[in-house]
Amino acid sequence: MAAQILITMDDLETAVPLNAALESAGFSTAMFSSLDDARGSVRRENPDLVILTGTVHDTPALTLAALARDSEISTLALLEPTDSERAERVGRLGVTETMMKPARPVEVVETARRLLERRRLQQRTGIIGESPAIQEVLVKIEQMAPVSSTVLVQGESGTGKELVAKGIHDLSPRRGRPFITVNCAALPETLLESELFGHEKGAFTGAAERRLGRFELADTGTIFLDEIGEIPPATQVKLLRVLESRTFFRVGGVQPIKVDVRVIAATNRALREAVAIGDFRDDLYYRLNVLNIYLAPLRERREDIPILVRRFIREFARAQDRTFRGIAPEALQRLVSAPWPGNVRQLRNLIESMVVLAPGSEIRASDIPPDVMDGPGTFLPVRLNQVGGAGGTAGHELEFILRSLVDLKLQVEELRRRLDDHPQRVQVIELTDHATVADVVPESERDGDDTVIYRSGMTMAEVEKAAIEAALREYRGNRRRAAEVLGIGERTLYRKIKSYHLE
Ligand SMILES: Nc1ncnc2c1ncn2[C@@H]1O[C@H](COP(=O)(O)OP(=O)(O)OP(=O)(O)O)[C@@H](O)[C@H]1O
Ligand SMILES: [Mg+2]
Repeated sequence: MAAQILITMDDLETAVPLNAALESAGFSTAMFSSLDDARGSVRRENPDLVILTGTVHDTPALTLAALARDSEISTLALLEPTDSERAERVGRLGVTETMMKPARPVEVVETARRLLERRRLQQRTGIIGESPAIQEVLVKIEQMAPVSSTVLVQGESGTGKELVAKGIHDLSPRRGRPFITVNCAALPETLLESELFGHEKGAFTGAAERRLGRFELADTGTIFLDEIGEIPPATQVKLLRVLESRTFFRVGGVQPIKVDVRVIAATNRALREAVAIGDFRDDLYYRLNVLNIYLAPLRERREDIPILVRRFIREFARAQDRTFRGIAPEALQRLVSAPWPGNVRQLRNLIESMVVLAPGSEIRASDIPPDVMDGPGTFLPVRLNQVGGAGGTAGHELEFILRSLVDLKLQVEELRRRLDDHPQRVQVIELTDHATVADVVPESERDGDDTVIYRSGMTMAEVEKAAIEAALREYRGNRRRAAEVLGIGERTLYRKIKSYHLE
């Protein structure tokens, strides 16, 4: 069904051509000259988008924008250029996006399309938020859904990782097939393996029957490996094998089992740091991190807080069957500035308790428990806090040093990985005394000019010289590229060229 767009007619010169452009782009539109009528239509028809063409500073326009906002309908305000400095304020009044007049109808149509697409995605995934961070997450979900590649979702506890995983599944061709969750932190090693891969009858004490593992149950669907950062080393190896071949054995089984499963993994640990300190296998990390989504903590996208608060109030008021008017501005302001170490989950739980406990029909500042405002503005990984010990200046310095060390280690790892990833251009072939290349390597497999021959008796320097010659030949004397491929600095290469008399 075509998306419904409501246009106010305060400014006819803008509204009429825009209406025509939207209609010819396939949208269904309705124009209103009275804002009261427009409000009635928002209530009754629940359109997908409201476009305001007149001023947004008088009460009827503001009431319309607020109604749309509370009904989770996007609004686009077309402002006079003189209003530009107020655009930000308009945003806070509940308008989703603004454009300056005279806006070209094609551009407005494009913006409308984007806002509608965003709303559709939010409805399908249940992920709310207007911040650029959340918009980016939604776009990624949409891009990643159609393929079967593995996705790693990272973010602090309560940022919505499970919601994202479910969103990808629901938008993928696998929707309607199983979505199976495994919490990797909840089980000890042996149980985790039997949970993931199943077991045969008699595989261990207590295994009275054959049991299918989660990977088998997820066949043709998606498996969500939550808290992947916690899996023990032995299971990491097994998981790596499954990711590489989609094949595994049940515990105690000898028959390989093949499945068609999409893997989505999540973690609230900084997995790269875990790799750097040797807690997590790097090969598994790269296998999991084919596609990735990062969920920013709530304190870094505070603009999402009002919309989340309103959504949760509505949801719990309905569930509790309470008539609730919403939240007082001062109370909302407090929630917007709270630290939220537990992110959206903490916010949601708090709203639930306040909807149950608030004495009036509105959440007031006095209803907010004082401890919500306590705590650090930033949430440091526990590991570092513990090492830091007593805190204070010394603690902070120590923490800074540790962070720098971890950073350094990460850079070295990255460097090593890049070098490993570099396609091996120089092939070293070992020849016995008098054999020639042709004797050992068939023509079809010979790597043309790039082949460096190692004959027994050759010194390291001779091999190095041959490698440099081959690289220079391959890149037609381009020393910068040759140095890059050889993994040495350009200066070093110059020096070696000189000392081997290769000029
Ligand atoms: N952007 C969002 N919009 C609406 N609800 C959200 C959003 N983000 C999180 N939530 C809600 O917050 C709660 C926590 O989300 P979720 O369980 O997905 O977080 P998580 O990152 O998996 O947390 P943990 O690491 O603790 O498992 C859920 O009730 C979820 O519906
Ligand atoms: Mg979770």
